[in-house]
Amino acid sequence: MSKLIINIKHLIQVREEKKKFIPANEMDTLPSIDNGFLLIEHGLISDFGKMQDLPNINDVEVIDANGKIVLPSWCDSHSHSVFYGNRSDEYIQRIKGVSYQDIAKKGGGILKSSNQINNATEDELFSESERRIKKLIRYGTGSLEIKSGYGLSYEGELKMLKVIKRLKDSLPIEIKSTFLGAHSVPKNYSKEDYFDVVITKMLPDFYEKNLIDFVDIFCESNYFTPKDLNKLMIEANKMNLPSKIHVNQFTSIGGIKEAVKNNALTVDHLEVLNDDDIKLLKAGKTMPVLLPGCSFFLGINYAPAKKLLLNDIPFAIASDFNPGSSPSGNMNFILSLACKKLELSTEQAINATTLNGAYAMGVSERTGSICRGKLANLIITEDLNSIDDIPYYYADNLIYKVLIKGEEIY
Ligand code: NIG
Ligand code: FE
Repeated sequence: MSKLIINIKHLIQVREEKKKFIPANEMDTLPSIDNGFLLIEHGLISDFGKMQDLPNINDVEVIDANGKIVLPSWCDSHSHSVFYGNRSDEYIQRIKGVSYQDIAKKGGGILKSSNQINNATEDELFSESERRIKKLIRYGTGSLEIKSGYGLSYEGELKMLKVIKRLKDSLPIEIKSTFLGAHSVPKNYSKEDYFDVVITKMLPDFYEKNLIDFVDIFCESNYFTPKDLNKLMIEANKMNLPSKIHVNQFTSIGGIKEAVKNNALTVDHLEVLNDDDIKLLKAGKTMPVLLPGCSFFLGINYAPAKKLLLNDIPFAIASDFNPGSSPSGNMNFILSLACKKLELSTEQAINATTLNGAYAMGVSERTGSICRGKLANLIITEDLNSIDDIPYYYADNLIYKVLIKGEEIY
């Protein structure tokens, strides 16, 4: 049945035309309608406007949003939310002063998650991940990108990608799958040999099996080089697979140059960014994705979001949900961090976590703004004074209801 939301205090992120993303100089504006209504038919937004212009509609389920705010659901364009078990022991070690890099050198870190995944069955990995992601949906996430990268073998990566495929089929939200075979080097392999398997066997096979939407590589000191990144992207581009690249998390080693040159869709992290990197981003079309949850949890730099804006570079913001560097996919908290730690206005942070997030995972035609014909993926907040209350109450989820394709999520 159709649904009609009435008496909406503020209907946020209303875009009449289907904009692909919000450019930097417009990110501080969030078009909205006060005292509005929104009509949902067949899971899509079919109409909206001011209450005074509400047409006569029969045979419709009415939701009274008196005092509440309605906005598009979060688009989380960077996550590693398929994992098994956790790494809370490493978290405690880090509190005691051991670094993320030292933990990784001793066989912890990504390799530990890899062992955990390789010791779980596909069904176990699926159930644990599904439970985790259902919680994210209740927190308002309506689109989620999920990476492989903890398999680190043909079988392990295949297991992860199959699980992501099953999540796409079982969950109502938009899910995109990213192949991150080049996330780390497994034990008993040289980097060259393992990377060769990634490029010559895994990538073509998984592409053939229709398991990947995007390609990624961890371009970082002690992991993979800009040269590796270039090689991977050349192969991905031949298959018309867009790339989303991990770069500049701890060091700036030239990854952005290769990613922009090969037209990556996004470059993600950017906690360490020099002036040359900024110039490259300014001249290119690749969108940065900033991950403040990772900076919070690891205690590293926050990406220079304001500097990007000053240089006219728009960006998305995502959770990086993973067991090592950002064990939360709660986008309400990420929004608070974006405001407080990246020093953004609520408007800038919401543009980065809705429409720009949708662009950063290739779904901005379908979601990310209040637009006729887009998916009715919506957050109805609790009674709030203004949208600024959302980041302000940083440990709350001020959500009254979540609708995905017009259906209420409990
Ligand atoms: O995005 N940087 C690489 N990958 C993840 C962390 C992976 C892990 O520690 O499990 C990230 O932070
Ligand atoms: Fe990541």
